[in-house]
Amino acid sequence: MAAFFHLHLLLSALSLVTAQQLSANFYDKSCPGLPSLATSVVSSAVAKEPRMAASLLRLHFHDCFVNGCDASLLLDDTSSITSEKNALPNRRSVRGFEVIDDIKSKVEQQCKGVVSCADIVSLAAREAVVLSGGPTWTVVYGRRDSTSASMDTANQDLPSFFDNATRLVARFKAKGLSARDMVALSGGHTIGHAQCVFFRDRLYNFSGSGSSDPILQQHYVTELKQQCPSATHDRSISAFDPTTPAGFDNIYFKLLQVNKGLFRSDQVLYSTPGDTQDAVNAYSSSKAAFFKDFADAMVKMGNLSPLTGSKGQIRANCRLVNS
Ligand code: HEM
Ligand SMILES: *[C@@H]1O[C@H](CO)[C@@H](O)[C@H](O)[C@H]1NC(C)=O
Ligand SMILES: *[C@@H]1O[C@H](CO)[C@@H](O)[C@H](O)[C@H]1NC(C)=O
Repeated sequence: MAAFFHLHLLLSALSLVTAQQLSANFYDKSCPGLPSLATSVVSSAVAKEPRMAASLLRLHFHDCFVNGCDASLLLDDTSSITSEKNALPNRRSVRGFEVIDDIKSKVEQQCKGVVSCADIVSLAAREAVVLSGGPTWTVVYGRRDSTSASMDTANQDLPSFFDNATRLVARFKAKGLSARDMVALSGGHTIGHAQCVFFRDRLYNFSGSGSSDPILQQHYVTELKQQCPSATHDRSISAFDPTTPAGFDNIYFKLLQVNKGLFRSDQVLYSTPGDTQDAVNAYSSSKAAFFKDFADAMVKMGNLSPLTGSKGQIRANCRLVNS
């Protein structure tokens, strides 16, 4: 009897653990076609527009940092939802929603009501990095979708392009990610583009000085001024890594070492002595070290407080809470 009781306790403890843990084989029986569907949708989207890979990677980051990886970012404004899409770090900036919708609608045709939008976002980010020539990792599944969004939390928790290194480290630490994780993940800026509005002050009036950010390499200032001549060009885009804007490599870190970081928040990783500078130097000299740490940090980020078990829901439409 006592043995039975203990076995029972053990089993319920085990089921508690499995209910809360994501797993690689979560959809093996219920939706085996998921990975190949995602691969084909993401690769045709990236073939049409190479920047889309970067946009999908950023989408996962901005979902996970706001109350965990729960697809809260995908919800549109309604009478009861204040969309995170209008938070300052996202507004007129975060993109890729149509690609997620496309994967979701194809997945619904194969396995209706089974696959969460949050898992699709996580898988799409991995596909995007691999397609760009970056590292791969095992995506774990079992996240469920939120029934609410938080624009306020998005404004508070997402990093800003004028954050200093201390602030960036603190923001990631608050999510259980180390300084090294933060620098590795910032290496996501090896692909993609940014709008002039986010770095114009560094070219023309840094901290109200009337001139450019003294840390910026001078030829780079001249180049950027051509791409971003004035406030009327606020929506023009520049690559974070102009040499290989669609290639996932460690050139981003080499650029930081020569003071060609596009944002202040990129450059401070190198200009601030300590953990962040050490990590930049390590990743600049070893692409393998960067790839390994980036993959590990993506897995950690993908595990940020997911809704599991019977929490949340599997949305039918990623933009709307089920009625
Ligand atoms: C560390 C603090 C970070 C800050 C302050 C920051 C900020 C930004 C900003 C302002 C943009 C430009 C968006 C636009 O112009 O519309 C951007 C783009 C991007 N970010 Fe970050 N980011 C950070 C970290 C990350 C992380 C951790 C990732 C992913 C692992 C990431 C991935 C990207 C990508 C791929 C783009 C290009 C998006 C595109 O071309 O559509 N960023 N980031
Ligand atoms: C970093 O920024 C925060 C505010 O975001 C500020 O309180 C702090 O003093 C800054 N630290 C350094 C070393 O500049
Ligand atoms: C630069 O910024 C300062 C402070 O924000 C402002 O007072 C000044 O007018 C700006 N100068 C130019 C040339 O825009």
